[in-house]
Amino acid sequence: MSEISKAGTALVTGSSSGIGAAYAERLAGRGYDLLLVARNEDRLKELGAKLEAAHGVKVETLKADLSDAADVRKVEKRVRDDEAITLIVNNAGIGPKGKLLDDDVDYLDDMIALNVVSVNRLAIAAAQTFAARGRGAIINIASVVAFIPEVFNGTYSATKSFVLSLTQSLASELKDSGVKVQAVLPGLTRTEIFDRAGGSMDHLDPEMIMDVTDMVDAALAGFDQGELITIPSLSDTTLLDAANAARGALGPHLSLRKPASRYGVGA
Ligand SMILES: NC(=O)c1ccc[n+]([C@@H]2O[C@H](COP(=O)([O-])OP(=O)(O)OC[C@H]3O[C@@H](n4cnc5c(N)ncnc54)[C@H](OP(=O)(O)O)[C@@H]3O)[C@@H](O)[C@H]2O)c1
Repeated sequence: MSEISKAGTALVTGSSSGIGAAYAERLAGRGYDLLLVARNEDRLKELGAKLEAAHGVKVETLKADLSDAADVRKVEKRVRDDEAITLIVNNAGIGPKGKLLDDDVDYLDDMIALNVVSVNRLAIAAAQTFAARGRGAIINIASVVAFIPEVFNGTYSATKSFVLSLTQSLASELKDSGVKVQAVLPGLTRTEIFDRAGGSMDHLDPEMIMDVTDMVDAALAGFDQGELITIPSLSDTTLLDAANAARGALGPHLSLRKPASRYGVGA
């Protein structure tokens, strides 16, 4: 077993495949010990053994179904109690089976439990714990559909808007705390997510699908550059600045004593 790493331990949820597994690999390369969380413990252990051998870091696995409240609390307790944890990547998530009108509401409830409820609990636990220590980092995996809910399943898009809003709000509260926060908004990324939901990426334009390691490398570069919102495919960052500026311009008009005159009501 190696010494405790200087970088600390990174807890990565949903690290048995796709984006989470790629984060685990890259973070091990940066010298982080790892706490890998997902349901499929065999896959976690296999990845852990590979990363320990390749990078000389210490890897622990924690089997948890993050759509289950008791399992989320188990992981939350670890976040609060384990002083070695310096980074959490809230990545575990599921995608939609299709359009909202064709989807199964019970499945969407499970999606909200995983994509929203668990992320909320773990991000807040990390924020409170890291803020008290004056250091640490939180990476939340949202999606570009947070910005374009009209073109994708509404519940899924809303879960990702939740992750984006939560991250923006946490960043504001944590501004002077020494804790780094980032929301990553991937576009289409080649992973198992569509297959798991009974679909496939095969009919999609390959020019719109990013390789998973490119996505994670870009996201980590954005993290290093101190970006709060990282959109890996976005070259022209003035577009994001303009969207944020437009939102800011609305600010002074959003809560006033009088209704707007066009409604013809009020004194
Ligand atoms: N791929 C894309 O195009 C894309 C685009 C934007 C955002 N994202 C987001 O990226 C994140 C990762 O997705 P991915 O594309 O890498 O998909 P993926 O390959 O399907 O991986 C999903 C990961 O989440 C874990 N997971 C699923 N349900 C879980 C549960 N109930 N409890 C604990 N872990 C669970 C899975 O592990 P187990 O099955 O072992 O539990 C797996 O490790 C998600 O939040 C997704 O919304 C993906």
